[in-house]
Amino acid sequence: MKFQCIKGTKDILPDDIHHWHYVERTVRDIFERFGYREIRTPIFEETALFQRGIGETTDIVGKEMYSFQPDPDAESLTLRPEMTASVIRAYLQHNLATRAPLTKVYYIAELFRKERPQAGRQRQFWQFGCECIGSAEPESDAEVIALMMTIYRELGVRQTVLRLNSLGNADTRRVYREVLREYLRPHYERLDAVSKERFEKNPLRILDSKNPELQELIAHAPRIADYLDEQSQAHFQAVQSFLTAFGIDFTLDHRLVRGLDYYSRTAFELQSSDLGAQDALGGGGRYDALASVLGSEKPVPAVGFASGVERLLIAMQKQHLLEPAQAPTPTVMIVAQSESARDWTIHAAQLFRKEGIATEVDLLRRSLKAQLREANRLNAKYVVIAGENELQSGQFQLKNLRTGEQQALLLTEILQKIKVEK
Ligand code: HAM
Repeated sequence: MKFQCIKGTKDILPDDIHHWHYVERTVRDIFERFGYREIRTPIFEETALFQRGIGETTDIVGKEMYSFQPDPDAESLTLRPEMTASVIRAYLQHNLATRAPLTKVYYIAELFRKERPQAGRQRQFWQFGCECIGSAEPESDAEVIALMMTIYRELGVRQTVLRLNSLGNADTRRVYREVLREYLRPHYERLDAVSKERFEKNPLRILDSKNPELQELIAHAPRIADYLDEQSQAHFQAVQSFLTAFGIDFTLDHRLVRGLDYYSRTAFELQSSDLGAQDALGGGGRYDALASVLGSEKPVPAVGFASGVERLLIAMQKQHLLEPAQAPTPTVMIVAQSESARDWTIHAAQLFRKEGIATEVDLLRRSLKAQLREANRLNAKYVVIAGENELQSGQFQLKNLRTGEQQALLLTEILQKIKVEK
């Protein structure tokens, strides 16, 4: 075969689309129950938006972005690798702050990251997520986490672990970065190549390393929790109290730093033991400085999360939570008994559909027998049979394929009968 979809991308075929629809329906329903409204932003943005928003030292900006220059003197553009920077850009551009004291938006969006493809990691993938913009209060962090957990609970996903950490404010991280470097410096030669690179650029990310040889070293590293300022500490305590009151289990994890630079204070991630190496179902946190980084004169506190749809579906599949495909069944198949009736069947199908009835008609000019076989294959409830005599008399055979019952009726009577039953 000549063409195949690109490595790291996937076709979602009609037999699988109902899983996606089910997840999307559930997610939308829950977001709206929590008072969120949908936002859609363009698939590409100025490259600088992500460079500044996500941070130059992150893997995403450093090596995973699909950037392109549409023409030689145009600015560089990038296929969005995440939604938070785009949402804040839209929030600032359209002055959404003037419309409501709090902006709560959700999205279901496709994203692009040039990562090495593996199970649960694609180059084009989908996320659902939300951003709660305008509140610095810990109850908004807790509510966002509760919202994320509600989605997994209502979908029936089990065996998850919610990891929670606080990254403090910018000063906390500046001080902690140095403390961590000092701790790691004597062990520098033991670090792997990736960690050596991170040592300079972003030492916090070393805590994220899955290299088994570094686990001991990381386990004994100084903890960011010991460097939190008083307000961040109080904030973190309050988030934990809310979660406990909501009945949400969590594990404090001082190693959780997340792969995007905009976070401050709360950071969280939901892991699943059903996912293998790429075990994060979703994650998020507070990002109070992002709007200022993107040019806002006023500070805009915000918190949000995003979850991978493909990873969710992998976990649901492993936990037998996905229903088998069900092809849509037509109510009626209009069948031509003779060649002369074909045109009539095509017109009649349009009429039935206009009346709101799911209708099939033969587009392959098949024999009567083959058309009836097709009606059975499609599991149609009725067939309407039209031949020369029927066209003359205006009365058509309506056969109920479930009961075998058959009667001759005028077209108007057939429509009436089916509509009443619907
Ligand atoms: P993130 O941790 O980069 O956060 O991505 C969130 C989720 O998207 C991951 O936990 C994972 O389920 C899924 N994901 C990420 N990369 C891939 C990939 N290559 N293939 C498949 N799934 C993937 C963010 O994107 C932040 N914008 C979340 C956020 C919202 N923080 C605040 N508000």
